[in-house]
Amino acid sequence: MSDISKRIFFIGGGNIAEAIFSGLDHTNIYVIQRNEQKRKLLENKYPHITFSAKLNITTTHNDYVILAVKPQDAKETCKTIKYLVQQSNIITVMSGVTTETLTNWLEVKSITRAMPNSPAMLKKGVTGLYFNNQVPKTCQEFIKNIFSTIGSTYIFNDEDFIDKITATAGSAPAYVYYLMEQMITTAVEIFNFDPISAKQITLDVFKGAVEMVENQKDLTINELRHNVTSKKGTTAAAIKVFEAKNFKEIVANAMVACYNRAKEISFQNS
Ligand SMILES: NC(=O)c1ccc[n+]([C@@H]2O[C@H](COP(=O)([O-])OP(=O)(O)OC[C@H]3O[C@@H](n4cnc5c(N)ncnc54)[C@H](OP(=O)(O)O)[C@@H]3O)[C@@H](O)[C@H]2O)c1
Repeated sequence: MSDISKRIFFIGGGNIAEAIFSGLDHTNIYVIQRNEQKRKLLENKYPHITFSAKLNITTTHNDYVILAVKPQDAKETCKTIKYLVQQSNIITVMSGVTTETLTNWLEVKSITRAMPNSPAMLKKGVTGLYFNNQVPKTCQEFIKNIFSTIGSTYIFNDEDFIDKITATAGSAPAYVYYLMEQMITTAVEIFNFDPISAKQITLDVFKGAVEMVENQKDLTINELRHNVTSKKGTTAAAIKVFEAKNFKEIVANAMVACYNRAKEISFQNS
């Protein structure tokens, strides 16, 4: 990772870019952040990184350029860097911008799509990676190492899985927050817990349940659930409601809607 002949450039220094570069032990990092106020804050926080308002050098085949702007800024941003990055390895973390679209916009060969999720900030992210057929094997290794610093990585041979991992991991922390929100609201509004206790109890429940799954690897999640669901008992009464309201179908519909939206954005950007 710390091969200093390789430079890593981030185009956009927002949330996900910071999650990645804050964890890298690489010494040769450049961040292009157009917003002056945000740039100054980052400069103070990361004195070992070089910040600038725009890319003003031509990058080489030894360089890695990570596109980390919002999809709606992608086309304009690509126009401004097109002639400076053509020899480099492009990595995009943007949702809904395909390698085909980027090939058209940038006329580059080596393109990787990476789809991290927000716990990357705590180095507990999940990143899906897809390399187009122009990314050299040694570069694939280097790119995998970049994302391994922020959590686990999964490599896919089919680009469609980038949209599938968006629905399964990229957007999934929000699904968990949503379930937590509903449990906290019920605890407060129906059971009269105070909001602070309700939040802490819910957090402890999630942490405890995750640890149970991690520590009891010989049991499936379904077995863990059945172990705490005695017939006609209290938990069974709750699960019966989830089943009657078809919770399984709700989750499936939500994840498929997320996947379809990623496809729609890709189509709008093509
Ligand atoms: N956040 C996540 O959990 C997550 C997870 C996976 C993928 N992603 C993807 O990552 C991308 C960035 O998301 P984010 O949450 O990090 O967004 P963000 O916080 O808004 O970061 C984007 C940053 O890029 C700057 N920018 C835009 N155009 C620029 C340009 N031409 N040159 C230099 N800087 C430029 C923006 O500046 P301004 O403030 O001036 O607009 C902004 O600070 C998105 O495409 C998203 O789909 C995000």
